[in-house]
Amino acid sequence: MQSFLHCHFVLLSLSLFLSVQSQQIGPGFNQANNFEGSSNLVNVQYHMGPVLASSPMNIYIIWYGHWNPTHQSTIRDFLYSLSSPAPFPSVADWWQTVRLYTDQTGSNVTGNILLSGEYNDSSYSHGTSLTRLSMQSIIRTTVANRGLPLNYQSGLYLVLTASEVVVQEFCRAVCGFHYFTFPSVVGVTVPYAWIGYSGTQCPGMCAYPFAWPTYSGRPPPGGPGGVNDIMSAPNGDPGVDGMISVIGHELAEVSSNPLVNAWYAGDDPSAPDEIADLCLGVYGSGGGGGYVGEVYKDSWGNGFNVNGVKGRKYLVQWLWNPEKRSCYGPNAMD
Ligand SMILES: *[C@@H]1O[C@H](CO)[C@@H](O)[C@H](O)[C@H]1NC(C)=O
Ligand SMILES: *[C@@H]1O[C@H](CO)[C@@H](O)[C@H](O)[C@H]1NC(C)=O
Repeated sequence: MQSFLHCHFVLLSLSLFLSVQSQQIGPGFNQANNFEGSSNLVNVQYHMGPVLASSPMNIYIIWYGHWNPTHQSTIRDFLYSLSSPAPFPSVADWWQTVRLYTDQTGSNVTGNILLSGEYNDSSYSHGTSLTRLSMQSIIRTTVANRGLPLNYQSGLYLVLTASEVVVQEFCRAVCGFHYFTFPSVVGVTVPYAWIGYSGTQCPGMCAYPFAWPTYSGRPPPGGPGGVNDIMSAPNGDPGVDGMISVIGHELAEVSSNPLVNAWYAGDDPSAPDEIADLCLGVYGSGGGGGYVGEVYKDSWGNGFNVNGVKGRKYLVQWLWNPEKRSCYGPNAMD
């Protein structure tokens, strides 16, 4: 985030924390940088590195800790939805924005995404308190145990930590991050992302807008229709529904900037503004500055903005669209 942006947007009480390639904490309101309207201030540039263009992209999940099978199904179905048909506007329609990013050869980010393997690390191989570097060790241990293949050509590893797992900076500064493995740890360079289940530890930070941020300094919303209403979760659990948007955020960024030398805004590669960072807290038209934007409600009143497989509904944040030069999602009103 660049300081020159601050003067254009009201920065309220929340202080923002930056962490490299991470989804910051910071619920929809109080965000300093939401670009729902077209902005020439934002200059997302290409830095000549690769994007995840191999088709298919093979996603491997490491379920770290004890996972609720219902939550696992919600997450699996989201990943299946990335390249499966569903009624418009769908998760796959949302992914089309990521597909607009290309590499030096003109190859686009792939739209063919498979969930190619899963591993249960239910015995907490690295304990219940993890650092950022632990994620790489968990990947190494998993492939060494033959729990998953080491696919450095077209693999993407997701380490998903269960409710009780404490992660460095989780809930204080970040909800997830993406990076790439070091050959010295894993043997190869392969992109990965970590996302934590926030439902118990900090739903108000990482599961907004499904949970109220208690540190916000503002009272909970007063009544229906108000712009700061808390939304009910389309898959029944604020922690997992909030996690879906963070997973979407990290997938979009790791695909367009897997080695942190492809697509981002700003001059500082150690603190880049990637294509999802630019649109934190924006889920629909008019979103930003505390308002999630125009989204839909299902027949039970749960909020969502895209459809997935098996009749699923999800709420995912918008992404920077390089053609429109604004944040965008398929549920846009215009
Ligand atoms: C690939 O990216 C280019 C440049 O953004 C875009 O014009 C084209 O539509 C993209 N192709 C697909 C299939 O999204
Ligand atoms: C992983 O755990 C889930 C339940 O949480 C179970 O359904 C699945 O079969 C397990 N997978 C493996 C490979 O052990």
